[in-house]
Amino acid sequence: MSTIVYLNGQKVDYENAKISVEDRGFLFGDGLYEVVHVYNGRFFHLDRHLARLQEGAKEIYLNLDFGIDNLAEICRKAVKESGYDNASVYIQVTRGAAVRQHAFPENIKCTWLVIVRESKGNPPEFYENGVTCITVPDERWGRCNIKTVQLLANCIAKEKAKKAGSFEAIFHKGGTVREGSSSNVFIVKNNTLLTHPADNRILHGITRGVVLELAQQKNIKYAEEMFTLDDLFNADEVFLTGTTTEIMPVVKVDGKIIGDGVPGPLTRVIQEEYKKYIETIDR
Ligand code: PDD
Repeated sequence: MSTIVYLNGQKVDYENAKISVEDRGFLFGDGLYEVVHVYNGRFFHLDRHLARLQEGAKEIYLNLDFGIDNLAEICRKAVKESGYDNASVYIQVTRGAAVRQHAFPENIKCTWLVIVRESKGNPPEFYENGVTCITVPDERWGRCNIKTVQLLANCIAKEKAKKAGSFEAIFHKGGTVREGSSSNVFIVKNNTLLTHPADNRILHGITRGVVLELAQQKNIKYAEEMFTLDDLFNADEVFLTGTTTEIMPVVKVDGKIIGDGVPGPLTRVIQEEYKKYIETIDR
């Protein structure tokens, strides 16, 4: 079992995988990425991740010249070759390499990368007991719905969380809560799930979408509405969602205890439903 790397459609040794010093992903952050989870050999919505990649590509005028079906095939092949049942698939596409200039060079070919590695997941006690978060001002650009590799603001936020001994940093702006540095945020108030609307201020998380579908199926009330920092601190329950985060209960934010200080009942229902869902889904 081993980490598998495909660069521009070719299988390469991890140590020998090389990109140009003038790759626009390296120079400008001019590229997109996805992280897809494989549970017991089953893809958790590769279809939706690739659809989001295509939407992002349209937004940044990036022509996915290698073909999305080709990429999907390589992801599946690489997971098989890795031998890992539980794997994390990292996909990155950049506009490619050319002499440095801001405007898009002509006749440029995408750089596209797939890395499959073992997924170790978060410690089980995090899901059992919940985690703590901090809040930070959202200093990102205005198009957070595009999953670009320009993640510096997210990295700084996560580093602040780490320094504070917290799991995640939650972005806010103008008094409203947006999302985590690498996750979406849900609160529960009066038995209703609330999460930020899927607009340009947040990433439209695949996990977030699945949670809303599960809520609908289970007749749990939900609304995609903005909520304030006060709403967050005074919520009955808070949880995070994401490919690597899954359904993560939050029991403290900025030192303030959420609800009873333990994962709440609706969070538990969503965790359970999510667990069942990952045992069936494979697309
Ligand atoms: N992050 N919001 C942000 C800013 C994210 O970076 C992510 C995912 C999410 C959750 O999206 P999804 O459910 O589609 O994974 C929300 C990935 C996992 C990462 O950067 O590693």
